[in-house]
Amino acid sequence: MRSLPVSFSRILFNFLKPHAPIKIGPASKLHQSTLMKQRSSIELPMPTDLVSYWQGVFEAEGVPEAQTSIEYIVSYVLEAKTFQSLRAEHLSKPVTEQQLHQVEELSAWRLNRMPIQYVIGEWDFLDLTLIMRPPVFIPRPETEELVVLVIEEFQRKVKPGGAEHRDLAVAEASQCPMILEVGCGSGAISLSLLKKFPKVNSRVVAVDKEEAAVSLTRDNATRLQLQDRITILQHDILTNHNFLLRHNLVDIIVSNPPYIFKDDIASLAPEILSYEDPVALDGGEDGMQIIIGILSATPHLLKSYGDVFLEVDPRHPEMVAQWLQIHPDLDLSLIATHKDFCGKPRFLHLRKGKVPGSSARD
Ligand SMILES: C[S@@+](CC[C@H](N)C(=O)[O-])C[C@H]1O[C@@H](n2cnc3c(N)ncnc32)[C@H](O)[C@@H]1O
Repeated sequence: MRSLPVSFSRILFNFLKPHAPIKIGPASKLHQSTLMKQRSSIELPMPTDLVSYWQGVFEAEGVPEAQTSIEYIVSYVLEAKTFQSLRAEHLSKPVTEQQLHQVEELSAWRLNRMPIQYVIGEWDFLDLTLIMRPPVFIPRPETEELVVLVIEEFQRKVKPGGAEHRDLAVAEASQCPMILEVGCGSGAISLSLLKKFPKVNSRVVAVDKEEAAVSLTRDNATRLQLQDRITILQHDILTNHNFLLRHNLVDIIVSNPPYIFKDDIASLAPEILSYEDPVALDGGEDGMQIIIGILSATPHLLKSYGDVFLEVDPRHPEMVAQWLQIHPDLDLSLIATHKDFCGKPRFLHLRKGKVPGSSARD
C-alpha cells in the first residue's frame, strides 16, 4: 500500500504554484462540469469506468501515456501502488464522492501535462518510495543502474584476492564508504546507497545548488529514517571547495549531473520543460560544464584510489577521455564506460591515481 505523508494539497499549492502557475484549461473545466452534472443525476462511477473515461479524455487532448497516467491516479486515490494491485473489493464498488473529486483534480493537472510523478507526489526508485515535488528533478530509470554499478564495483574492489584489493584499509573503507553526491535532487542516489551500505560508518554528503532539492532530499531522508547518516548541504560545485573540505576526503564521488547539451534543451517534452528545473538539465554548450566542475574538484575531495561514477550523455565518454589527456595533473584514470539498458554508453567509472593497464572497457 502506498503511504503518503505529504498531503496532496500541500504538494500542489505550496510547491507548484511559485514555480509553474497552472491554468486549468477550458478542456479540463468542461470535463469537470460534465462529470459534476453526471454525478448529480447518476450513480458514482466504478474505478474501471473512471479509467476508461479519463483515458479517452487524455488521448483526445494528446496527453502521453494516457492509460497508465489515469491508472496511477485512480490507484493513488484508492491507496494502492498500481491499478493491477487494487483489491477486488475496490474494483467491485463505486468510488466515493470525495475520491471522484480527487481523481478529477489530479487528472486536471495531468491534462496540463504535469508529470505523473508530481501529480501523485511520490515515485519509486529501486526499493525506495520517494516524495516528488516540482521543480526537483524526477529520477530516471537509468540512474537506478548507476546506483547498482557503484555497489557492484565496490563489492569487486573489496573482494578478497580481487585485483583491486590493495590492503585492509581500502577494504574497510569500501565496506563503509564515505560518499559525496553532487547534485542530489530528490536524494534518490544518496539514499539508495545508504540503504545498500547499511553499516553505521557508511555516510553520505549530498550537495545541491538548489534550495528546493536540498529541502526535498532532507524530507526524503527523514521519511526513510536515514537522516543520521547523511549530511545535506546547499553548495555549488563550481565554487570553491573549502566549504566541502570540512567533511574530509571521500572514497566515492557519484553524480548524475545536468548533462544535456544547450541546443538539445528546446526539444525536450513539454512535461520536462514546463515543470522540471532547467538547472537540473542544462549542462552548457557541450553538456560538460558540471562534469568538468566535478572532475576538477577531485584533487580536493577524493582519497587516493577513490572512485568517481558519473551518468553522462552517450557523446561524453569520448569527450571526457580527451579532456583528461590534457589535464594529467588531475591524476584521474578512466577505468570503464558502461552501457545503459538501451545499449548507450552512459556511465563513467574513474579512479584517482594511476591504475596499471586501465583503459576504458565497456
Ligand atoms: C540531473 S539532476 C540529478 C538529481 C538526482 N541526483 C537524480 O539522479 O535524480 C542534477 C542535479 O544537479 C543540481 N546541480 C546543477 N548544477 C549544480 C552545481 N553547480 N552544483 C551542485 N549541484 C548542481 C541540480 O539542482 C539537480 O538537482
